[in-house]
Amino acid sequence: MQSGGWAIDATCGNGNDTLKLAEILREKQGGIICIDLQQEAIDKTKDLLQSHLSAEDLTRVHLHCQSHTHFPPIAEKNPIRLIVYNLGYLPKGNKWVTTMTLSTVESVKKAMTLIVPGGAVCITCYPGHKEGKREEKALLEKLSNLCPMTWNVCSHTFPNRTLAPSLLMLQKNVHSKVKNTQFK
Ligand SMILES: C[S@@+](CC[C@H](N)C(=O)[O-])C[C@H]1O[C@@H](n2cnc3c(N)ncnc32)[C@H](O)[C@@H]1O
Repeated sequence: MQSGGWAIDATCGNGNDTLKLAEILREKQGGIICIDLQQEAIDKTKDLLQSHLSAEDLTRVHLHCQSHTHFPPIAEKNPIRLIVYNLGYLPKGNKWVTTMTLSTVESVKKAMTLIVPGGAVCITCYPGHKEGKREEKALLEKLSNLCPMTWNVCSHTFPNRTLAPSLLMLQKNVHSKVKNTQFK
């Protein structure tokens, strides 16, 4: 990631992915925006970060308890180079509060507008549960139809394992001038 680049963890959960991002961004002097629907997840992320990061590193982390169907205003004001989603429910938490196909697709659409040319969106899907399978299918369909001049789309699966998580990655072409991408 380039210096000064910002990242968004759109499902911060227990904070493990956020911590990794914060460690990477420490070198780059970038900021990180963390989003989760549940206050429990925000609190867990905060605790984890506080026990691993310096006071200076913590000033670069912005926590938001809200749905990722909207990104907070601070996201519009900074160059967002990476957005990560780790879909599903909070491990060891309430399994009923899970990411949902419609809101996930809506969020990814907004993420694609927000991300700077050359930046990437990474989505880990969990087809092992019903809604996770729906999310994976819907995202694969939408992303497979994106214009290859603007987007590099990559799907990583484990073909010898049933119901294993999969990774979807999309990168906006470095020369892209497209502002709003419409899903078909
Ligand atoms: C698999 S967990 C994320 C794990 C996390 N990345 C980590 O490293 O621990 C998925 C998270 O998505 C959150 N979530 C579900 N729907 C959401 C939504 N619409 N907006 C934001 N977060 C959501 C859940 O509350 C849950 O904490």
